[in-house]
Amino acid sequence: MDTIQSRVEELLAQMTPAEKAGQLTQYFYFRLPAGVDAEPALGVDVDEQPRMVESVLQQGGAGSLLFVTDPAEINRLQRLAVDGNRLGIPLLFGFDVIHGLRTILPVPIAMAASWDPETIERGQSVAAREARAVGIHWAFAPMVDIARDPRWGRIIEGAGEDPYLGAAVAVAQVRGFQGAGPGAPDRIIAGPKHFAGYGGAVGGRDYDEANLSDFELWNTYLPPFKAAIDAGAGNVMTAYMDLNGIPATGNRWLFTEVLREAWGFDGFVVSDANAVRNLLTHGFAADLTDAGARAVNAGVDMEMAISDAAYAHLPEALESGAASPPAVDASVRRVLEAKIRMGLFDAPYVDEDRAREVLADPAHRDVARIAAERSAVLLRNEGDLLPLDAGSLRSIAVIGPLAAAKRDTLGPWVFDFDLDETVTVLDGIRAKVGERGRVDHAHGIRVTQRVYPSMFDMFGGNRPEDPDGFDEEAGFRQAVELARGADVAVVVAGEWQNMIGEAASRSSLELPGRQLELLRAVVATGTPVVLLVMNGRPLDLRWPAEHVPAILDIWYPGTRGGDAVANLLFGAVSPGGKLPFTWPRTVGQVPMVYAHTRSHEPENQGRRYWDEASTPLFPFGHGLSYGRFEYAGLTVDQTAVAADGTVTASVEVTNTADREADEVVQLYLHQRYGSSSRPVRELKGFRRITLAAGESRTVRFPIGPDERRYWNTAVRDWVADPSTFDVWVGGDSTAQLSTTFEVTETRPSSRPGTEP
Ligand code: BGC
Repeated sequence: MDTIQSRVEELLAQMTPAEKAGQLTQYFYFRLPAGVDAEPALGVDVDEQPRMVESVLQQGGAGSLLFVTDPAEINRLQRLAVDGNRLGIPLLFGFDVIHGLRTILPVPIAMAASWDPETIERGQSVAAREARAVGIHWAFAPMVDIARDPRWGRIIEGAGEDPYLGAAVAVAQVRGFQGAGPGAPDRIIAGPKHFAGYGGAVGGRDYDEANLSDFELWNTYLPPFKAAIDAGAGNVMTAYMDLNGIPATGNRWLFTEVLREAWGFDGFVVSDANAVRNLLTHGFAADLTDAGARAVNAGVDMEMAISDAAYAHLPEALESGAASPPAVDASVRRVLEAKIRMGLFDAPYVDEDRAREVLADPAHRDVARIAAERSAVLLRNEGDLLPLDAGSLRSIAVIGPLAAAKRDTLGPWVFDFDLDETVTVLDGIRAKVGERGRVDHAHGIRVTQRVYPSMFDMFGGNRPEDPDGFDEEAGFRQAVELARGADVAVVVAGEWQNMIGEAASRSSLELPGRQLELLRAVVATGTPVVLLVMNGRPLDLRWPAEHVPAILDIWYPGTRGGDAVANLLFGAVSPGGKLPFTWPRTVGQVPMVYAHTRSHEPENQGRRYWDEASTPLFPFGHGLSYGRFEYAGLTVDQTAVAADGTVTASVEVTNTADREADEVVQLYLHQRYGSSSRPVRELKGFRRITLAAGESRTVRFPIGPDERRYWNTAVRDWVADPSTFDVWVGGDSTAQLSTTFEVTETRPSSRPGTEP
């Protein structure tokens, strides 16, 4: 037994059932602005809730807290817990460190659009450093849920539709958060979530059930989780919804058979907020005691609760035999082990002065700016309108409320930001142009409010507002006149940040409010227009995609977003991001993915609807650049291999433009025939490269058994078929340059399968 294990056993042996239950219970601890009525959203009195938590801490009744980010508060609460606990066991502090703590990085879907694991890893290492400095030990991130329905607001928190890209992004994030592993200095535990299938919510309605076939689960939804576990993630979070009729949080198959037995996960599992209690809501558990027993028996180690924790009833459940004593002990072991690894017994408190220094580190802001530059996607650039020439432009009209909206520039799922240092698009352009030209802003139209308010609006400043006394008719006219008189108009349009994220599903993908009307009026002036899209989901851009010469997707770019946008607009850097999802024309097409299978009348694939093309507006992997890339000489080193063989594809990429730029070289694979139909093409390799003007580079991709294997529904196992394989390499999922190779013999399944 190693020292960690013996320390765990020593503690466990002394613990009462109530103390064990306490270690397995995590509470929110809220500090909401005065006067906020959180009762409707949270079901608790926010003045009473913290008092309840403090009294529980003094009795050793909680093992972890979430939602505290102030180091002084963390120290105070930690002291209550350590003093209140007979065995002196400290608390683990968790938080939604999704895309930064104080330094806000671009939103996760944007980071994924960088197709750059290094940028993603660096970003999350900055987030981890800030979080650890204030006393947070654990991030409820990365969200690795595949999202194929953009009506679902949480598409913004993940890496989009593709399991291969999703797995690579998941690994980069786990490395960024954890470094060498739980306990590494300046790092925190990563908690991939929400296991599993949350992105499959029917109708894109957040929290609604997901019904996913085993084909979809194994081939699409589970691979990013598997990759995150293989990368060493220390925690996993459950999901809210029913998966194929069983609430995910009570699903023993998911947490015990797949996660632990098939994948060898040895960290701890936490429920999503109130999700153990919710086993009652689902009509699954009979009462709170039953809910707690069934969740812990299923393999859910810790319950995240606001109040009335089901795990507080574990002593009764143990007494009656409903909860399995070995399951409870195993959960306590895992939680104690995480605390020991994080060094909590030796150093439970944080240095508040150091926290202030780390949060202010200017190097973190540079990381955020570079990430924003690398995540922007140039969707269209007719006539090379971009980059703009700062030297020759006398006047720039910046139009739209989002151009100057600090809170929206940061995106959702952040709470600890500093608005004073947030650089909006308008700020960024002004700073870049300086004295060389005029930069004027017009608000133009009223901000659009949600029909049903967001639960996040209770955290003050979340709801967008118009300037005092704003008159929309006059504002609209003024914006159009400003555009008419300018050399170029930069229109910022999209969704306000509270329209996307958790509990922010939408029945439409249109630009909210009068934004399209304003854009059309601005385009009608004849002034060249650049559209900057601020979004976390694809929006209906059918009109702009035909009439606006330049469209740059800037997502919600974070603390230094405006500086990044200005660098992109004026060409200090070239856009190099690519879409991590298929961009539909209209909401009626969703879900729409590039990796569909071929079926009857494939020649009519683009005409499946009679009223609208059934092709995307922009394909998966799309993104333009100020460079020009040519692909040539695609070859494979072997034209036939055995089932366990690896083929290496090589391609030569040349930047024929007169400036340096980045390209994301993408490899797609298709199996022509076999024991299952296979998607028309699937991403199986990518690399982001920087090429100087005129530079050529050979890029190589191994295509081995892992790239060819898939879960086969007929045999209910992983298979690798002998077949002919098509390979395409290019700058998006419609790449035309292709070659083929053969796989000549079968071989037994390479990984033990787990029956779904
Ligand atoms: C979300 C989780 C999040 C948790 C804690 C839940 O509502 O689904 O993703 O980590 O709240 O804030």
